Amino acid sequence: MNNLPFSPAAERNKHPILDILRRVLPAQGRLLEIASGTGQHAAWFATALPGWQWQPSEAQAHSAPVIAAWAAEAGAHNVLPALTLDVLATPWPLPDTRYDAIYCANLLHIAPWPVCAALMEGAARHLTPDGLLITYGPYLEDGVPTSPGNQSFDASLRAQDPGWGLRRREDVAQVAQSAGLVQRERHAMPANNLLLVWGREP
Ligand SMILES: C[S@@+](CC[C@H](N)C(=O)[O-])C[C@H]1O[C@@H](n2cnc3c(N)ncnc32)[C@H](O)[C@@H]1O
Repeated sequence: MNNLPFSPAAERNKHPILDILRRVLPAQGRLLEIASGTGQHAAWFATALPGWQWQPSEAQAHSAPVIAAWAAEAGAHNVLPALTLDVLATPWPLPDTRYDAIYCANLLHIAPWPVCAALMEGAARHLTPDGLLITYGPYLEDGVPTSPGNQSFDASLRAQDPGWGLRRREDVAQVAQSAGLVQRERHAMPANNLLLVWGREP
């Protein structure tokens, strides 16, 4: 075990997320990760998906060396240096204009609601025509009882910041549609999370 900043949740969910990424993504391409956090996902997924060039990014500039250290520890040679990217920035400060996939885990509920529109609009600007946006995290859904765990998580988020909280999947889909993206797939994940795949409207 190293002494790098560590997210237990990222360690727990990396296997089930990777299972879906293997099914959803083609063999190769360029991927932009939004809100990379510690960089554990970047290190793990890039190692397991060697055909992909993985571009991590984070709003917090001080995360870049940690993300690089996790990638080095994993021996992931396909992880680029992390970019400092706040999705609320316009335009996004990116060297490449188009990505085959954009991946974003556990951001929408731990950020103000306008971040959702910024993510969808940025993804629509920076995805290739057939590119996919993949979001992962806990959501509320119409007609689906919210688990007690997600109910208390939602309450604790809102107590920390009234602008935070679990998002209704249907609200996210409406924002996505305004940006020109539609939900293509919905995968139920462990611990009452969802992995959603978004693409351009046909
Ligand atoms: C709960 S962590 C998730 C980290 C990682 N994706 C994971 O699943 O382990 C949320 C991350 O979102 C980042 N974040 C918050 N607001 C953001 C914004 N406006 N743009 C980009 N990243 C943001 C935070 O810095 C934090 O690293």
